[in-house]
Amino acid sequence: MPTSFQLPEAFLWGASTAAHQIEGMNVNSDFWAFEHSGLLPERFREMSGDACDSYHRWREDMDLLAELGFTDYRFSIEWARIEPAPGEFSNAEIAHYRRMVAGAIERGLRPMLTLHHFTVPRWFDEQGGWESEDAVELFGRFVEAAAPIFASNVDHICTINEPNMVARFAAIRKAVLAGNVWEEVGTDKYDEAATVALINAHRRAVGVIRRLTPHIKVGWSVAIANHHAVDGGELKAAEIASAARDVFVLAADGDDWIGVQAYTRVFVGPDGQLPVPEGAQKTLTGWEYYPPALGESIRSVARLVPRTPIIVTENGIAESDDAVRVAYTSGALAGMRDALAAGIDIRGYYHWSALDNYEWGSFVPTFGLIAVDRKTFVRTPKPSAAWLGAAGQSRAIELISDDLMSESVV
Ligand code: BGC
Repeated sequence: MPTSFQLPEAFLWGASTAAHQIEGMNVNSDFWAFEHSGLLPERFREMSGDACDSYHRWREDMDLLAELGFTDYRFSIEWARIEPAPGEFSNAEIAHYRRMVAGAIERGLRPMLTLHHFTVPRWFDEQGGWESEDAVELFGRFVEAAAPIFASNVDHICTINEPNMVARFAAIRKAVLAGNVWEEVGTDKYDEAATVALINAHRRAVGVIRRLTPHIKVGWSVAIANHHAVDGGELKAAEIASAARDVFVLAADGDDWIGVQAYTRVFVGPDGQLPVPEGAQKTLTGWEYYPPALGESIRSVARLVPRTPIIVTENGIAESDDAVRVAYTSGALAGMRDALAAGIDIRGYYHWSALDNYEWGSFVPTFGLIAVDRKTFVRTPKPSAAWLGAAGQSRAIELISDDLMSESVV
């Protein structure tokens, strides 16, 4: 049954992107080097190349989002461009991102800036990345140098996107470099040194932002996987959730907000994560189609940090059939609506993603509200974009499917 969902007062309503996934030619970043190293598993060997060419076409992206009705846009700035060599900062790149912030405001889009979305400069990676001794110092220095970008007209900063995925990627990469097969690296492996460094880097960035720009509401965004225990997997599920989620969520206690990023759920047995059950509907990433993921994630985060307001900074689906995107998002938003009704303090929702973009090794999983032609870069909004965007102006959205909460989540 369709139901109308009224957005709360002052609710942020936007779409999200990340620099490496849309800008193109991010040649000085570690991921560009990684794409060319041959270390990625075979099905993830596509190069990011020009991506969506948003480095040049950001105005078009913002025009579309504003025309569609969105009031907010989350995008990231690229450390590898701003600090191409240690301590060498590019005023031109800082000016580029300042123009983007001003351009968003001019169009009626409130920018949320992500300072780190998975990629780092090559030099930072080459000297040991998050595990090097001065990683925290170096990140703090970058944030301080980037301050002119967010000094005015930015109300929200996300310091680090999905630090838990960064820690997981660090563990996988170490294992692969040691000769292990990518797919066989245990799903419960999260690099401990990287975890500690990322939490300290976040705290350092929060300190810099509070000192230089105290008006900004600062937080970070955590990937919430929703671990469902089956066949006696309760202990293992709790163990994975602790390393994969809890330490990163608890580190946000006392921040101005915490970002929830939710897509699906995973099943965990006594020996670890299980494959998606046979017969389950899957998306283009191979994940289970599971709209209640958002409501579940919000509730588990609210249980861990009840004093910290939540912003949904990512939620979406890799699908070629746009009607499925609308159905999925309806179900997810119904879960968010119910969490709001239960009294959870949720301040906004950003859909992932504004554009069909580079999904870390492949352009095949299309998460976008807006399609992008891979050769001409022509943008074409999908019906889901009009449906979701309109709510930014009307402040209400018609949901076509409802949420079914599962009880067994950790
Ligand atoms: C990341 C995005 C990614 C998306 C879908 C999140 O893990 O922040 O960069 O594209 O999920 O996989």
